[in-house]
Amino acid sequence: MERAQAAVGNMLTWFSASEEQTLEAGRCLAAALPLPAVVLLTGDLGAGKTAFTRGFVDGLGTAQPSPVHSPTFTLVNEYRTQRGKAYHVDLYRLESERDFRSIGLEEILESGDWVLVEWAEKLRMPIPNAIRVRLQQHSDDTRRIEINGLQEPESAALASALSRGGVGPDAAQHGRR
Ligand SMILES: Nc1ncnc2c1ncn2[C@@H]1O[C@H](COP(=O)(O)OP(=O)(O)OP(=O)(O)O)[C@@H](O)[C@H]1O
Ligand SMILES: [Mg+2]
Repeated sequence: MERAQAAVGNMLTWFSASEEQTLEAGRCLAAALPLPAVVLLTGDLGAGKTAFTRGFVDGLGTAQPSPVHSPTFTLVNEYRTQRGKAYHVDLYRLESERDFRSIGLEEILESGDWVLVEWAEKLRMPIPNAIRVRLQQHSDDTRRIEINGLQEPESAALASALSRGGVGPDAAQHGRR
């Protein structure tokens, strides 16, 4: 299994070669983080934000209802997991300040529960202590995943969970080995 860490300060980047690896990356992040956790996901359509979220919620333990679908029409889905309540918010269709209020976003962000937000580009307020996950499509089946905002010991815990999970490093892109 490949060593799966490429760290620059508080940034971890790696390369996912399949949807399953992106799920595994989500599971690994869930395993590494304590509560409260706000995870802000950015990236183009089809980049894998929902896949990563599905893995994350799976990593929190059996979710109800499951599995996680993109909440594009409902904006917010809520799950009960073994490690507590998780919110999956999708801001893709969010248009106005009023929409922000109508989904109770501020309350969700401050709930102290697990919070994952797709299309976080649309958030206008700063979210202190958020974990930022950026996904970029490289080819049909490959994605670059960048995670910012992790502190120690979470950063080290994620790196070791990834190496156990077999998700490959992004070292090639950075010329590091
Ligand atoms: N390495 C990979 N990681 C994640 N998804 C992948 C990968 N390779 C292929 N895919 C495919 O890309 C798609 C990712 O879809 P997903 O819904 O997770 O993206 P998204 O970023 O949530 O999109 P949207 O912006 O529409 O919500 C799926 O069809 C999945 O099978
Ligand atoms: Mg999605």
